[in-house]
Amino acid sequence: MRDLVTVILAAGAGTRMKSHTAKVLHKICGQPMLAYVMDAARKAGSGEIIAVLGHQAEQVKEAVKDVAFVLQEQQLGTGHAVMQARPLLEGKSGTVLVLYGDTPLITGDTLKQAYEVHLESKNQVTVITARVQDPTGYGRIVRDGDGRIRAIVEHKDATEEQRAIQEINSGMYFFEIPALLKALDRLNNANSQGEYYLTDTIEIILSNNGSAGAYLIGDSTEILGINDRIQLAEAERIMHDRIVQTHMKNGVTFILPETSVIAPQVEIGRDTVIYPGTILEGSTRIGEQCVIGPYSRIVDSTIGNDVHVMNSVILESEIRAKTKVGPFAYLRPGSKIGCNVKIGDFVEVKKSEIGDNTKVSHLTYIGDAQIGRNVNLGCGVVVVNYDGVKKHKTVVGDYAFVGCNVNLVSPVEVKEHAYIAAGSTITEEVPAYSLAIARSRQTIISDWVKRKGLDKK
Ligand code: UD1
Ligand code: CA
Repeated sequence: MRDLVTVILAAGAGTRMKSHTAKVLHKICGQPMLAYVMDAARKAGSGEIIAVLGHQAEQVKEAVKDVAFVLQEQQLGTGHAVMQARPLLEGKSGTVLVLYGDTPLITGDTLKQAYEVHLESKNQVTVITARVQDPTGYGRIVRDGDGRIRAIVEHKDATEEQRAIQEINSGMYFFEIPALLKALDRLNNANSQGEYYLTDTIEIILSNNGSAGAYLIGDSTEILGINDRIQLAEAERIMHDRIVQTHMKNGVTFILPETSVIAPQVEIGRDTVIYPGTILEGSTRIGEQCVIGPYSRIVDSTIGNDVHVMNSVILESEIRAKTKVGPFAYLRPGSKIGCNVKIGDFVEVKKSEIGDNTKVSHLTYIGDAQIGRNVNLGCGVVVVNYDGVKKHKTVVGDYAFVGCNVNLVSPVEVKEHAYIAAGSTITEEVPAYSLAIARSRQTIISDWVKRKGLDKK
């Protein structure tokens, strides 16, 4: 297909959100709504995306990548917003797709089909429309006796008869760029809102002997615009259902799916079971036959096959096959956990590697460390990685056995097959196959309690 440029209108204030965050950055299933609109545009074949920003422009610019920005300092209407993109459209001959940043439920498939129809029909403009029960507030699609689109009339400017029309303007259009630029020159703001309406370009194009078409979509939820937090929650439900149903169709079991939050880019393998209260965010990938949850949050992490994660939080980490995590474990960014590892209750791991078959069963902190294969870290082991100024590294070799309540004061190395006695504070290298004991010997003071008069009757 030919070059398709997309212009996304996102300059509005979003007053009804009552938020310090720009409306288009509010998240749906963990991803900003603007990102959904961009994804849909790309799926429709758009390489270049231009966002028209106004309110909170700086915030939006920081949050999204691979987009060109133009500024609409005063919001004088949707037509005026598109005019701001003129310098980036001038001289181009292809098609421009106009979308809104606050309409995140539109799908790439729908846009693709509409684009094909637009190209086949050789129209100068094709507007995406929907039929809704209650068209209040929307622009109405006015058709002639032959069913051809003649105009779009805004609710506030419509006659009683026009207000009865249930086919509405979604606000999404495909325009041939030269025809759009020519029509924009003729826009005025002589209407009830004193705005430059993009919708007026339909009549202008027709009066320039151009042709216009309407592409009616079946599922009107796709054009749901988000203006307040109630609509945001509604969009979250719809998006959630779409995402979860896609995973179910691919062979993933969800127990009480309505309690999970799964971001759109997340991948989940077959026969994995997702227990209630599971939140999977960012670019997380989960393998096959895993059991995830209940009540776990995994962000930007890769989980191998047959892994169990229970009541735990995993951030930007990697876990290989057959490993068990939790309950109540916390894996912080940069952790790499091998195969068949056990990370038990109240274990925190930060920026550390743990080799295959190693057991870290309870109450342990591992930070900036490299732990080998088949190691046993007893209950309450602490890697003392921070001296108050700098972080240091600890290395524990394969098959080492570290007893309960041991401090490994970094930087320190425990060589392979070494043993460390419980309660030791290790500050120097422990050679391979040796035992280290670093605690004071036990002393018995006989009858001390009686002599002190502390004995209870
Ligand atoms: C617009 C359409 C209406 C359509 C409806 C669908 C016009 C004149 N009307 O109405 O036919 O049924 O959308 O939702 O186009 N924006 C800017 N700059 C502006 C004005 C708006 O960037 O100067 C952006 C807003 O941020 C928003 C979008 O354009 O994302 C739509 O603007 P809005 O004011 O909500 O348009 P409606 O009055 O709802
Ligand atoms: Ca709107």
